[in-house]
Amino acid sequence: MKKYVVITALIISVLNSGVSAESKQSIKLLKPQTSIGKPLMQALKDRSSSRDFSTKELSEKDLSNLLWAAWGINRDSGLRTAPSARNWQEIDVYVAMAKGLYLYNAEAHTLELIISKDIRKNTGQQAFVQIAPINLIYVADYNKMNCEDEEKKFYSAANTAFISQNVYLYCASEGLATVIRGLVDRKGLAKVMKLKKIAACCLFPNGRISNSE
Ligand SMILES: Cc1cc2nc3c(=O)[nH]c(=O)nc-3n(C[C@H](O)[C@H](O)[C@H](O)COP(=O)(O)O)c2cc1C
Repeated sequence: MKKYVVITALIISVLNSGVSAESKQSIKLLKPQTSIGKPLMQALKDRSSSRDFSTKELSEKDLSNLLWAAWGINRDSGLRTAPSARNWQEIDVYVAMAKGLYLYNAEAHTLELIISKDIRKNTGQQAFVQIAPINLIYVADYNKMNCEDEEKKFYSAANTAFISQNVYLYCASEGLATVIRGLVDRKGLAKVMKLKKIAACCLFPNGRISNSE
């Protein structure tokens, strides 16, 4: 019998993504495994959206690998696994789990506790977001983008799409389910996350499936 594990991810763009962390608590992630996985062409062949999720938690290994694949640092220069226009690196990846909301710190490869409360139900309007072990939330910090406001929406959405595709490919490679979502109450979510002023948004969820018993 198949069991399904979910990661959902969403993106919202804000003028300033700064939040005050509840405490300095952080989770040290395992070293990412950069020599695993299916060949690229096979991962592309298997890439798809899935909305079947279970409550099973992701392993520490999967959590670490997933976040590194999504938006980790892959070069000594501090550049990332996904491109960003003019290297603004304006996207912050938040992780909503049962035990709380965390912010991915790519430099330290850690998760920093933001709110010790389960906000998964606020991350989308589809029922599975409440039980998915992980919802990734992509937040664009417009303060890091040196361009016209209209262009900020465009570039932050494009930059998020690259990160999201990395998540899709990692999930395809590891036999996990994911779906990116735009169906989100972004203003409501930004409030729950205590983000600063929200300007515009688009949201994506990613989920993943595990075939383990
Ligand atoms: C920008 C964007 C927003 C999306 N929003 C949602 C969503 O809110 N809910 C959902 O279930 N799927 C969402 N999807 C997933 C699409 O429905 C899915 O990619 C499409 O049906 C094609 O299926 P595939 O990903 O398996 O190829 C979204 C996809 C994109 C690219």
